[in-house]
Amino acid sequence: MIVCLCRAVCEQMLGETIASGASSVDAVTSACGAGGDCGACLPMIADWIERRTENGYAHATR
Ligand code: FES
Repeated sequence: MIVCLCRAVCEQMLGETIASGASSVDAVTSACGAGGDCGACLPMIADWIERRTENGYAHATR
């Protein structure tokens, strides 16, 4: 499923980006581009980061 339509970033790519160390929305945007245009996906990216971090899966891949 696509998370960021503007940059065509899918869930797998987002998960891999977070797993590789991107622990903030800005870091994710810098790493894969997600959130770098209209910003509509920013809340979803933030939610992904929060869930991966609070559950201890910050370094897990999907
Ligand atoms: S949907 Fe992600 S920047 Fe537009």
